[in-house]
Amino acid sequence: MIIGGSASQDLAAHVAKELDEELCYVETKKFPDGERYLRIAGEIEEEVTVIQSTGYPQDENLMELIFIISTLKDMGAKKVRVVVPYMGYARQEKRFNPGESISAKIICGLIESAGADEFITFNIHEECVLNFFNIEARNISAMPALAEYLNKKLFKKSDEKPLIVAPDKGAYGFAQEISEIIGCDCTYLTKVRLGPDKVETRIVDVRCDSESENTVNIDSVKGMHAVIVDDIIATGGTIVNAINILKQYGASSVDVCCVHPILTNNGATRIYEAGANKIIGTNSLSSDTSRVSLAKSIADALRQ
Ligand code: R5P
Repeated sequence: MIIGGSASQDLAAHVAKELDEELCYVETKKFPDGERYLRIAGEIEEEVTVIQSTGYPQDENLMELIFIISTLKDMGAKKVRVVVPYMGYARQEKRFNPGESISAKIICGLIESAGADEFITFNIHEECVLNFFNIEARNISAMPALAEYLNKKLFKKSDEKPLIVAPDKGAYGFAQEISEIIGCDCTYLTKVRLGPDKVETRIVDVRCDSESENTVNIDSVKGMHAVIVDDIIATGGTIVNAINILKQYGASSVDVCCVHPILTNNGATRIYEAGANKIIGTNSLSSDTSRVSLAKSIADALRQ
């Protein structure tokens, strides 16, 4: 049985369809004072999977998730699997300054103490966050789903192979994953801090494959169809910077893909203004760039 919270209803419905499982309905409303009401309608089964991202509005979505898990356990569910395609509050996994809340640790504790028996997420910002759980916790990559979309929709009719570009070294693993599936080259850009507020991005190399240390001349970008890949696009600043560099080096076109399209502060507009053809995000968060469904990846993970 699958339950979709209000942030992931569409995704939950598609996962239920993939697995041929029953979909359970959740009724939610807000009282005039802002407090939430939640009711799980109908009989529940012994094993239930809850799907709910905890992006904006983070606190509401998180509270709803906690209510659902806890209510399921109260109603007699023996096993509650929790799928949080985008996990909010995952960026602070340690105390950088004295007195700061380690928000990621607190959130993991809340989910577990509400009654979660298993936790699944996608491309969590810091994988070590999962160590805060005592239950089984898995981090799944959405790169195969993104690569499949790129293959089918962008490069189907073209013999020209793209160049997959990570906007910084931290995202290079994503570029490698996608390029291995598509069978093309990948590279990464390096961010150089010039001053307290100024960050410059440069292309450092173009590698033929993940194993090879052979660098190829930077001119290899010229005339290429570049696809930038990152885990998160928030304000779009990182991607705009990368697009500008790729255009400067002569890329013929630039597409952008990510797992979690947060796209705050007119991020999408700024990316299109910089010259991107298309922004391709997954439906971990609902946005008009959510072109790639994670339903099959979630269904595969739940079958394991
Ligand atoms: C950073 O480590 C992440 O991978 C993304 O590059 C970052 O969150 C993007 O943020 P923004 O879109 O605001 O530049």
